[in-house]
Amino acid sequence: MRIPFIAGNWKMNLSVKESVDFLKAIKGKLPDPKVTQTGIAASPLFLESMLENRGDMPLIIAAENCFYEDEGAYTGEVSPKALAEMGVTHVILGHSERRKYFNETDDIVNRKVQAALRNNLIPIVCCNETMSRRESTDRISWVVSQVTNALKGITTDQAAKIIIAYEPSWAIGSGQTASPQEAEEGCYLIRQTVADLYSDELADGVRVLYGGSVNDDNAQQILQQKDIDGALVGGASLKPDSFLGLANFLQNK
Ligand code: PGA
Repeated sequence: MRIPFIAGNWKMNLSVKESVDFLKAIKGKLPDPKVTQTGIAASPLFLESMLENRGDMPLIIAAENCFYEDEGAYTGEVSPKALAEMGVTHVILGHSERRKYFNETDDIVNRKVQAALRNNLIPIVCCNETMSRRESTDRISWVVSQVTNALKGITTDQAAKIIIAYEPSWAIGSGQTASPQEAEEGCYLIRQTVADLYSDELADGVRVLYGGSVNDDNAQQILQQKDIDGALVGGASLKPDSFLGLANFLQNK
């Protein structure tokens, strides 16, 4: 059974103090992790204090990115080894903003996936889809190739741990969410690709999230789709109330 996962992605928002206030506000209000897992990906500046202030809350603390080497002369980069050492367990990789503003290619994403797994971090691998791709005939191959390239050299055991997010870039931060059918189509395609690369059984267990303008109002229809196992949430994860609304959606259903 795939346990749904609601993952916030704060991006370059909030301050250390605001992150602590956020944790105080959600304390005691998260769902049973056997029903829904919850997590927040935050700036590396906040992670240590968030890990400390999380206490015994069932909240996954994730990084928003890491480098593909464990250590070395890479000024300004974030070491996956150091993240794991400090107690971070998950890392978002290949987000469309990383691909767009920092020129991350499929090859770089693949190297980062390998580095994360090598350090026992669970990668949340993002696949994007621009509007022009969406309207073109190679839409399917575009999504398939991102998944295939991200998973190059990844063993079956490792692949079973990975979380993948379908994030159409036109829906991110735009308020224009994909329709439940469009979101399901993207997530289904990702699951089929994993099945082709590994096996139906493995694909059946891999969690696939949808991301792009998910909020309290549209979550219901999106989260009930067969191949959607949760959401990667930007804007609506910044406020405790809206994050809790999404986090507790299934428990309160
Ligand atoms: P959004 O961001 O929810 O603000 O659209 C989603 C994401 O970038 O993961």
